[in-house]
Amino acid sequence: MSQSISRQDFDQWMMPVYAPAPFIPVRGEGAWLWDQQGKGYVDFAGGIAVNALGHAHPAMIRALTEQAGKFWHTGNGYTNEPALRLAKQLIDATFADRIFFCNSGAEANEAALKTARKYAHDRFGSHKSGIVAFKNAFHGRTLFTVSAGGQPAYSQDFAPLPPDICHGVYNDIDSARVLIDDDTCAVIVEPIQGEGGVIPASLEFLQELRALCDRHHAALIFDEVQTGVGRTGELYAYMHYGVTPDLLTTAKALGGGFPIGALLASEAFASVMTVGTHGTTYGGNPLACAVAGEVLSIINTPQVLNGVKQREQWFKERLQAINAQFGLFKEIRGVGLLIGCALRDEYAGKAKQISLLAADEGLMVLIAGANVVRFAPALIVKEEDVTLGLNRFAAACERFVAGESS
Ligand SMILES: Cc1ncc(COP(=O)(O)O)c(C=O)c1O
Repeated sequence: MSQSISRQDFDQWMMPVYAPAPFIPVRGEGAWLWDQQGKGYVDFAGGIAVNALGHAHPAMIRALTEQAGKFWHTGNGYTNEPALRLAKQLIDATFADRIFFCNSGAEANEAALKTARKYAHDRFGSHKSGIVAFKNAFHGRTLFTVSAGGQPAYSQDFAPLPPDICHGVYNDIDSARVLIDDDTCAVIVEPIQGEGGVIPASLEFLQELRALCDRHHAALIFDEVQTGVGRTGELYAYMHYGVTPDLLTTAKALGGGFPIGALLASEAFASVMTVGTHGTTYGGNPLACAVAGEVLSIINTPQVLNGVKQREQWFKERLQAINAQFGLFKEIRGVGLLIGCALRDEYAGKAKQISLLAADEGLMVLIAGANVVRFAPALIVKEEDVTLGLNRFAAACERFVAGESS
């Protein structure tokens, strides 16, 4: 007999690192989720930029159940067909020569940073260990990745932190130039800072980082955990910018909701990661790779990628209209379907309150820090769902300016 479950159980049983919404979703389809009470929500949160094909996509269900009926796991003493197929798909679609699979974005970044260090140590000596990252960046929650991340709130309680990591100011190339030298082994950067507030890098910033890395023989790592797999209207954001990294990390949307991460590498960097230097029990497991292979083949088509650009227009036009009515935002920014609405100064710190009012209206949105409401919907969200969802957002904004809290 199954036990009845309520949201209060979370507060009693779970380690209190999250503050989930007051409802529990139990079923999803496309851009919709329903909670235990049967209330429907338009989902513009997309599981934090994960559910690129929405919920319960028939092709993903087919890929998962087909593989589930064959075998689930062998560990890395054996390879498998879905992993090799997915690796070839990623190689054919990107700059990469080789792929390492893991289970999350943090793990992919951990692998990237370790690869960059090993490459530098092998080729130039152990003095070349410096990592340059950026303030406000987010790269995951392992000790190495919170240290590379530029939000001290996520790392300061866990000191001592790994040494030799410093932080420049995002989009300020002069601040990076003074940090990058011959002792730098890697520069890690998000082409669009996601958690940091949906802030796109400028083209010149990424181009100049590329040039500095070339000059100092450092690896340029693009963290595309949030921007990858079609989110910007290109398969990866580096294609949007025309700046190619040496190492690229991808996760989130790659599995469409099934946990998977990957490190994409050029041959030179991959070649230093010899047998036994790195690994994971579950990385490249056939269930995850079967689903991701399906997700990638659906998303990496002109139809879906152009559709993202079309949807970006729908979102931005309607959000501008909502803003013309309520005057909440000083900027509506982002690329493709990673969109941030930055609150005007008089509403600073209130993004969470707006997201709670939206949930009350039957709409799931994200925040990115305390001042930005973020949208990361399915890349194939239907126009009628965009319209309905943004009508609900307008209703939430109206209640917010009227002084209501949820
Ligand atoms: C840019 C970026 N890198 C890394 C991560 C960490 O990914 P994960 O939570 O899968 O470890 C995130 C998650 O939000 C992210 O946005």
